[in-house]
This record gives sequence, structure tokens and C-alpha cells, in this order.
Amino acid sequence: MSTIILGIESSCDDTSAAVIADGVLKSNVIASQKVHENYGGVVPELASRAHQQNIVPVVSEAIRQAGISKQDIDAIAFTRGPGLPGSLHVGTSFSKGLALGLNVPLVDVNHLHGHVLSHFIKDDESTEVPEFPFLCLLISGGNSQIVKVNSYSDMEILGQTIDDAAGEAFDKCAKSMGLPYPGGPIIDRMAQEGDATRFKFSKPHIAGYNYSFSGLKTSFLYTLRDEMKLNPNFIEENKNHLAASLQKTIVDILMDKFSKAVKDTGIKTIAIAGGVSANSGVRNAVQEYADRRHLKAFIPKRIYTTDNAAMIAVAGYYKFLDKKFCDITEPPFARVII
Ligand code: KG4
Repeated sequence: MSTIILGIESSCDDTSAAVIADGVLKSNVIASQKVHENYGGVVPELASRAHQQNIVPVVSEAIRQAGISKQDIDAIAFTRGPGLPGSLHVGTSFSKGLALGLNVPLVDVNHLHGHVLSHFIKDDESTEVPEFPFLCLLISGGNSQIVKVNSYSDMEILGQTIDDAAGEAFDKCAKSMGLPYPGGPIIDRMAQEGDATRFKFSKPHIAGYNYSFSGLKTSFLYTLRDEMKLNPNFIEENKNHLAASLQKTIVDILMDKFSKAVKDTGIKTIAIAGGVSANSGVRNAVQEYADRRHLKAFIPKRIYTTDNAAMIAVAGYYKFLDKKFCDITEPPFARVII
């Protein structure tokens, strides 16, 4: 008999449910919310309402695609935080209700642990997974962290951003170029056509393994402002070069601290995770760095970089094996340090 976990993710603007059996993925359904596009960012109240509409059909579809029935589920793993409080409440309340109804244990998952453990999602038994300890560069719209992963449950943050996250740097600079939200993937596409050496933006000088992206954002804005005074068509004429130069600067900043942490710890296995790990510049830089230094690099499939319930289910599976269950009275949490 296999151990079947239903995972539920609702921390931000994606409603997702996934089923895994003995760590192998059986289904992963994601409903993204289009409602925020007109607002230049996620509107929390609209996100919770969309989660309420989506959660029943998304969970039903994940169970259907997995070819199981509700009675086969051994535990429900859900994202307890961090994230938007209203969004988290929808997933948490639903998970509690379903766990009570099915009389199965609840397992709470830290969303950031989920991203890191996305490397343990197995498409089949042959999927290669990292060995502990490994160093993970966790980069998303809300976080930029270097995490030393000692086990499924023991993670140390070696460094993190002191202001903006890498994804915010992409999104805010993209917004200043007049691009829609989220700008990260658009910058990535435009950067393919641009010359990354055309513009220079400032890089931070921060001690240790911490990151800072707010200075880069300011220097990008000042470049646009100054150049637009001279040429009102500056952005339009240079958009691909701006995108390529911005992307290169962000990648350099990320790699500078990450490579320092890799060298200092001597750890031979590295990984990237989170929404920004979909970025082609980051993916290439990490793979090249690993090849040069004979390290093993884990670059996630793009589907697992964004918010998804497969990573929550897999993180929940290992917690379930450790019998670390969550009491039904535990509330969600909006912010936390892993
Ligand atoms: O992990 P994630 O889905 O959720 C949040 O943390 O909210 O990350 C979303 C972030 C956004 O900032 C988005 O612009 C960025 O990931 N992102 C990218 C790319 N794909 C997503 N940034 C750069 N290049 C990409 N290809």
C-alpha cells in the first residue's frame, strides 16, 4: 500500500492541489488568477475570493487526474505560511475541513521549505534528487535567500535580502519600463535579443552572504529618467538592451554571494528554487558555475519554480513520515523566517 498525500497551496495568487504516492507525483493542478493583471500586482482581497471559487474544482481535478478516490488519501499537507493572510485562510480552512471529514492527519508546510524541497518531486522512480547537505539559492517575488539544507526539516539561512527580493527587482524595473506585472518573465524574453554590456547599473556592497536590490532599482530608474530627458524614445529604442543589462546585473549579484557561500562551505551540491529560478540567465549561470567547479547542480523544471502544490505535497510527505502533524487549531501565519 502506498502512502498518498494530497497537497494544497494557496499562499498567493495560485490555487493548486497535487497528489503524490510514495513521493512520486500523480497530479499537479494549478489555477492561476488572471484577475490581478489590470492592477499591476496581486490584490489580496481578490486573491482570496478567487481561491474560494477555485479550491473545490482544483482539488477535485487533482484527485481525478491521480486516479484515486478521497478515501485513499493518508494525509493532507497544506501551506500554512508565509503568504497573504486571506489566501492562506482559504487553503487552511479547506484542508482542516477535508482532514476532519476524511479523518486523516493534517501536515502543515512552510511555503519556503516547499520551494526548497521541490527538488524531491519525483516524476517517476528514476528522478534524481539532491543529497544532503546542499546549498539552495531560493529566489522569488518575496524572498532571496541562500539556504543550507541539512535534511528535509533542518534548513539554515546563510544570507538573505535586506530590502527587495530578486523578483521584486525584476518586476519593479519592468514596471518603470511600462511593462505589465509580473515583469520578470517579460524581461527574460526581451533579454534574449539585447546586448547585456550596453548599460551598467550599480551593484551592492553588502557584508557576508546578504543581498540588496534596492540600489540597483534606483540606478535603473535614474538611467531611464536621465536618458528620457535627452531622448523621449529611449526606452522603446533600447528595451532589449535594458532588459539584457538588468538581467545580467541581477544574475551577477545573485551569483557573487551564492558562489562565495559555496566556496566557504565546501558543499558540492547546489540548487535553485522559487519563481526567479525560471530565469534563463540565472539557470545558465548556475549550471556554468557548477560545470566549472565540478559541482552537481539541480535546476528545477519550470513548472516547479512557480507556486505549486506538488512541492507542498512532497514536503508534507517527509513530515508525515516523521509523524509531525499539525493540530486543527493552528492558524496560518503570514510571515516567518525559516
Ligand atoms: O515564487 P513565485 O512564483 O511567487 C512569489 O514569490 O510571489 O515568484 C514570482 C516571481 C515574480 O517576481 C516573477 O517576476 C518572477 O518570479 N519570475 C521571473 C521569471 N519567471 C518568474 N523572473 C525573472 N525571469 C523569469 N523567467
